[in-house]
Amino acid sequence: MIDGVDLSQPLSRAEADLIRTAFLHHHVVVFHGQTLSREQHFAFAANFGEVEHSAVHKHKTKRYGVAHVISNLDSDGKPVDRSASPVSNYNWHTDKPYYRVPPMMTALYAVEVPSRGGDTEFANTAMAYSALSPDVKRRIAGLRVVFYWGAGYGAAEPQITGSGILGAVDHPLVRTHPETGTKALYIGNHSSHILGWPPAAGRALLDNLLVHATQPEFVYTHRWRSGDLIMWDNRCLLHRAVANFDVNNEHRILHRTVVRGTVPF
Ligand code: OGA
Ligand code: MN
Repeated sequence: MIDGVDLSQPLSRAEADLIRTAFLHHHVVVFHGQTLSREQHFAFAANFGEVEHSAVHKHKTKRYGVAHVISNLDSDGKPVDRSASPVSNYNWHTDKPYYRVPPMMTALYAVEVPSRGGDTEFANTAMAYSALSPDVKRRIAGLRVVFYWGAGYGAAEPQITGSGILGAVDHPLVRTHPETGTKALYIGNHSSHILGWPPAAGRALLDNLLVHATQPEFVYTHRWRSGDLIMWDNRCLLHRAVANFDVNNEHRILHRTVVRGTVPF
């Protein structure tokens, strides 16, 4: 948690460096009590790299330079329960691993959160990798995981293309953090199978590794207050929203930005 900085104002070089260092050490950085417009949120994220334009913006609102809105509301503003959807944020995942160049960071800012619950959980996949036995590490070294958007519900790939983002890509199962050199598992929702393995065997390995990586000792639970901004490192974490709130009645509204990363290796 970092105190005493107002993220609505431009950051000094020293502040941005301090935040970046904390981000690389801790992987999740929390700021409380912020008041941010969507433009200010975008400008904050831009301190750390190129902010991606949401597909939603491209096709619908055509607003650039702003954070996009994620919520549990439908287009009429009524809460809906999407927690059963196999491709929803309620499943353990890392953001957009189905891109050849997946994002390095995501920032979420809480506008309105439920009176109780509506948490976000983070699992540290670097700690999870490190805790594997030498034998398992040897067995999985060099493997590649195939990801595509619809893999969560077993859709045949490639997905409804058109936007060109939904075809299958493969990434290393054990990826090396480009800034810290630490190895981490690259798994979660949208992972389909292991390249070159029989599908069922690959699925079983991915499922076992997910169970391993999401054990309580590797997990941090963020309990939101409105005004929180958190930023996390997609290169060494899994995350998921938790439906531990009154999903059909309470509002959960957050603003989100995603910062472009590099090709995983
Ligand atoms: C996301 C995400 C989880 C949440 O924005 O990428 O997965 O708790 N959010 O809303
Ligand atoms: Mn996500």
